[in-house]
Amino acid sequence: MSLAGKTAIVTGAASGIGLAAAQRLAKDGANVAIWDINEDAAKAAADDLVKQGFKAIASRVDVSKRVEIDAAVKLIHEKFGPVSILVNNAGISAFTPFMQITEEQWDRIMQVNLKSVLICTQAVLPDMLEAKWGRIINVSSSSAQTGAQTMVHYSASKGGVIAFTKSLAQELAPTGITVNNVPPGFVDTPMMRAGLGEKVDHIIAASPMKRAGRPEDMAGAIAFLASEDAGYITGHTLSVNGGRYS
Ligand code: NAI
Repeated sequence: MSLAGKTAIVTGAASGIGLAAAQRLAKDGANVAIWDINEDAAKAAADDLVKQGFKAIASRVDVSKRVEIDAAVKLIHEKFGPVSILVNNAGISAFTPFMQITEEQWDRIMQVNLKSVLICTQAVLPDMLEAKWGRIINVSSSSAQTGAQTMVHYSASKGGVIAFTKSLAQELAPTGITVNNVPPGFVDTPMMRAGLGEKVDHIIAASPMKRAGRPEDMAGAIAFLASEDAGYITGHTLSVNGGRYS
């Protein structure tokens, strides 16, 4: 229970990687706030953890909207106290040939995948500065490292997350707060199944480990970066991709 007494927010935690991260952080002892735009699924995830004896609450939050973030942070303060761990995981993906990307689609992806990282972090940073301890973990994407056809908008947003991570890590380095990012390779989640359809089997066959990543693989890396053991690691990109680097 290395995170006993700590309070964590996981965004996009009603599904996939975020859900696994929230479950893992709760099992490691943290109080967990499950944020998601899908309110019913977020509540079901929190109820499930509470039934198992863990401390969890759920909020319906669109991470691109500061007013919703601030209201949800207020609720955490009332229930658990200051926030010490933030996992910026919520994201949306899309596969669109370059010339068909609309400005509206570009703006929405940037808002949900990149602006959210700014405004969620700003909402909880005062708690971490006060405590002189904090962990910010951003879920980026291997597509930002390798490039990805028909994902210029998505890859650009995730490249922004990696650059954000490195820059904020330097700015906060003297404060006891670390900022790292975890780019998943191919992880078998509803987002990936919906986006790739029949291509999934081909991607798995071409991968070095001959299997997709599991949400729990990501959760393990996130839990490590949240732990005391990772206190001298900041600005880092911890790739969790089963050895697939291209
Ligand atoms: P998922 O679709 O299973 O889960 C994403 C969650 O985010 C959903 O519960 C959804 O309701 C929530 N969400 C979407 N928009 C939101 C908003 N505006 N505000 C709050 N919540 C919102 O997806 P998955 O695969 O678990 O993805 C998690 C993160 O990992 C994303 O940032 C994604 O870009 C990233 N990623 C995933 C990869 C994969 O192979 N699954 C590969 C690379 C990156």
